[in-house]
Amino acid sequence: MSISDAFAVASWRSQTWIILHEPTATMFSLEFFATVVAILVSGTVLQHVLLGAASDEPPFIKGPIPYLGSALSFARDPQPLLNRLQKTYGWIFTIYVAGQRITMLSDPIFGNRQVWNNSTCVSLSRFVTKFGAENLFKYTKSLAYDFEFQEQLTKKVVSVLNSKPLLMDMIQTLKVTYLSQIDNASRSANCDGDVIDLYEYCRHNMYYSSARALFGPGFPTDEVYRPYVRFEEDITKFLKRFPRFLNREGHNARQKVLDELTSFFMDSSRVAQSSVLVRSLYEMFTTSTHQSPADSSGYFFAIIFASKSNSVPAAFWMLANIIADAELKAEVESIIAKYYDPKSDGFDWTALVEDPLIVSCFKETLRLNANVISGRQVTQDFNVKVANQSEDHTQEYRLRKGSTIMMSISMLHWNPEVYPDPMKWIGKRFLEENKGNLVRHGEKWRGAYSPWGSGAHMCPGRFLAIYEAVIQLVYTLAIFDVEPVEDIPPPLIGDRYGGGVLKAERPYRVKLTRRKSPLKPVT
Ligand code: HEM
Ligand SMILES: *[C@@H]1O[C@H](CO)[C@@H](O)[C@H](O)[C@H]1NC(C)=O
Ligand SMILES: *[C@@H]1O[C@H](CO)[C@@H](O)[C@H](O)[C@H]1NC(C)=O
Ligand SMILES: *[C@@H]1O[C@H](CO)[C@@H](O)[C@H](O)[C@H]1NC(C)=O
Ligand SMILES: *[C@@H]1O[C@H](CO)[C@@H](O)[C@H](O)[C@H]1NC(C)=O
Repeated sequence: MSISDAFAVASWRSQTWIILHEPTATMFSLEFFATVVAILVSGTVLQHVLLGAASDEPPFIKGPIPYLGSALSFARDPQPLLNRLQKTYGWIFTIYVAGQRITMLSDPIFGNRQVWNNSTCVSLSRFVTKFGAENLFKYTKSLAYDFEFQEQLTKKVVSVLNSKPLLMDMIQTLKVTYLSQIDNASRSANCDGDVIDLYEYCRHNMYYSSARALFGPGFPTDEVYRPYVRFEEDITKFLKRFPRFLNREGHNARQKVLDELTSFFMDSSRVAQSSVLVRSLYEMFTTSTHQSPADSSGYFFAIIFASKSNSVPAAFWMLANIIADAELKAEVESIIAKYYDPKSDGFDWTALVEDPLIVSCFKETLRLNANVISGRQVTQDFNVKVANQSEDHTQEYRLRKGSTIMMSISMLHWNPEVYPDPMKWIGKRFLEENKGNLVRHGEKWRGAYSPWGSGAHMCPGRFLAIYEAVIQLVYTLAIFDVEPVEDIPPPLIGDRYGGGVLKAERPYRVKLTRRKSPLKPVT
């Protein structure tokens, strides 16, 4: 049984409970029920008592329940549990969840960097296969267990996205498409004080433009959009392994996306119009032993997810937070105006993407919202040096072969020692003048900011992601006057903890008015 199977037991029970009994039943009674079942059925009490860790291993918390360990509190709302354990044990500790040893590591000085930089003793693809490839993205067995081929695919993604001309080519398509979504011929052409949900606006426009940039004009964007969004909304049900009958819509939505991808990849004339990234990855599949359409559709589904599930909400949060602060919005609008050239009717994108205030807003957005857990499977016993709250006190710990390492980026990003008032979005936090004040500890703690991970598997989509966010920000504020009509919603954490850039708890309604004349710099 895996961690997600344990989640399934807990969640399945909670669902049945709620369906068969009153809807107000609390989780407490469910946990109690599940505890009794676990003890009776598994009979692993003795094993639980004997569980432990050697003295060279991280502090070990076996949790209250035999076999399940801390699975229930972890499945329900990991953040309070992790915070509590971090306060007690520091930057490394191991929890026991449904038969798995999971080491939580959040060391901004040494630990995380060592794990991220080591491909000999830890593996990302094994982690993905263990926790999600087949269950979530429907990787075929043949692909899921061919770790070498997965590594080759990643190398290809990295090489294409690190090539400036190839990246700029995609970004050009993205820009043109984004503009066409909102320009004077689009459905928002006549917006005049219309109240819209900003998240829906961002998600649709960004998804559409980015799908066009990656997959070309032959991609069935309209057919895939709704089901893909549905899949993302139901993601926790997949992670907790709800049985199919409790997640029928999620399953159907995922199947629809996969079917559309399969027919796309069976039509070489459509694939030929897609980006170099998609074409070269596809070519690798056709010349490998993984030639069935199901092999590539599962993989491309995962790529769409890695990309869109993070970059769409990130671009939304940056725009939303700027709009929510009238003074900041005015400053950003004057920057946009400054880099607009009426002669060419275009923008100086390089200057915009490097502008210190815009960069700071983007960094702050990821600091607060990039709620990613980076995971690794330990493939050989592995020693890691971990700091005990300061660079002068460190200790070596041995991580066991077969265990799992999870590095929660939010545990780094929400540390009040580094970022005072950590749950507040402060657009100017990362400006040079706030160093030492709103961002503390300097270069030695540079791992305290790691939205892209680091080392061998650092996110290859990071340049694309910042361009996406800036393109949306610039075009939206240049074309529309945007006024919030309510407070910005808080991010939704709870059982979505660790599942990627956070989504909003509710819609964010804003008033959109098409500008009659272009933005002018404030003088
Ligand atoms: C704001 C948006 C994004 C965030 C916060 C983000 C975050 C991350 C992080 C933290 C990792 C490292 C995972 C690990 O080491 O365990 C990663 C990997 C990856 N990301 Fe992103 N990402 C974003 C956007 C994108 C985009 C736009 C793409 C588009 C192609 C992308 C593709 C990937 C891929 C393919 C990997 C795996 C790399 C590997 O296996 O070596 N990401 N991302
Ligand atoms: C990570 O490892 C590579 C070699 O594999 C090395 O060149 C690089 O300096 C290392 N980075 C850090 C931060 O240790
Ligand atoms: C829409 O904008 C384009 C370019 O900005 C312009 O050429 C065209 O005349 C505009 N159409 C209308 C109806 O305003
Ligand atoms: C990975 O960790 C092992 C064991 O701790 C160590 O011997 C090896 O040098 C590390 N490799 C890198 C690239 O850091
Ligand atoms: C870590 O530091 C704290 C105080 O800062 C101390 O109480 C604790 O014993 C230290 N732990 C180790 C393993 O050195």
